[in-house]
Amino acid sequence: MTNPFYNKNVVSIRDFTRNDLEYLFHVADNINSNSLCEALRNKILGLVFFEPSTRTRLSFESAMNSLGGTCIGFSESSSSSTEKGENLNDTLVTMNQYVDALVLRHQKDGVARFASEICTKPVINAGSGTEEHPTQAMLDLYTIFKELGTIDNLNIGIFGDLKYGRTVYSLLYGLSNYNPTVYLISPDLLQLRSDALSDIREKLSIEQHSNLSDVISKLDVIYTTRIQKERFPDIQEYERVKGSYRIDESLLKNTKDNLIILHPMPRSEEIPPSLDTTKYAKYFKQIRYGKLIRSALLYLIFTEHPEY
Ligand code: NCD
Repeated sequence: MTNPFYNKNVVSIRDFTRNDLEYLFHVADNINSNSLCEALRNKILGLVFFEPSTRTRLSFESAMNSLGGTCIGFSESSSSSTEKGENLNDTLVTMNQYVDALVLRHQKDGVARFASEICTKPVINAGSGTEEHPTQAMLDLYTIFKELGTIDNLNIGIFGDLKYGRTVYSLLYGLSNYNPTVYLISPDLLQLRSDALSDIREKLSIEQHSNLSDVISKLDVIYTTRIQKERFPDIQEYERVKGSYRIDESLLKNTKDNLIILHPMPRSEEIPPSLDTTKYAKYFKQIRYGKLIRSALLYLIFTEHPEY
């Protein structure tokens, strides 16, 4: 098959089909092979992070190193000339000349698309405002696929801050390539934004709930997220919902045996540490799948005729 990722931007998960995603999963299954450890020799990845990150930035960096490539970049705008007042356009145009692809995280919606329009090198969206985080969705889908063997016909609960969590939007659009029933579970103030909800309802079977306990016994997956405090326009709005949801251990008495609990991380109070040792907790394994998916993605973006 033609490599659908070669030299492509990754701005939105909506730009990829089920076949594309399954090809990525297939490459991720094989990416650890020794033959690829020099595959990206002489390639330079630019890491342009205007917002904090642990897993996304370091997994891209680790993936690039494992494939023989290198990374340059910055992880906070205060260490770039943005601090001196340089505009985003000039920062991106500069990076575009130093690197072979850019990974970009920014607090504003639309910035990844803007970057893809002004850069001649592939741009990978590592989180754009409240909008999307497509590579997170790729690894979330891969985790479900690896842990449960399928994504079709599952009951998937998405629990938490559905209003501001960008990973949720990418995951929902990614899931719309499959045939699950999705349970959106959140406090009223944190429900999915209404424009996206009507769009997603056309693509996916959706139920909305306020309490996890009402649906937990049906679920194959619980995907939870932290409250995105930094995205609330008004701190009082945040204060009203702070601490309002959590997966209590007592809820897990009434679950399917093979339930998996996922989280893009970082977590705050929604998953108590006591859950970490339960068989349901897959959020640390999910981090490992993240490196595999990002390795596969980089390999495919840079390689016209991949080995797999
Ligand atoms: C997420 C993000 O940045 O949107 N983090 C991540 O990349 N795993 C989720 C979050 O910050 O809550």
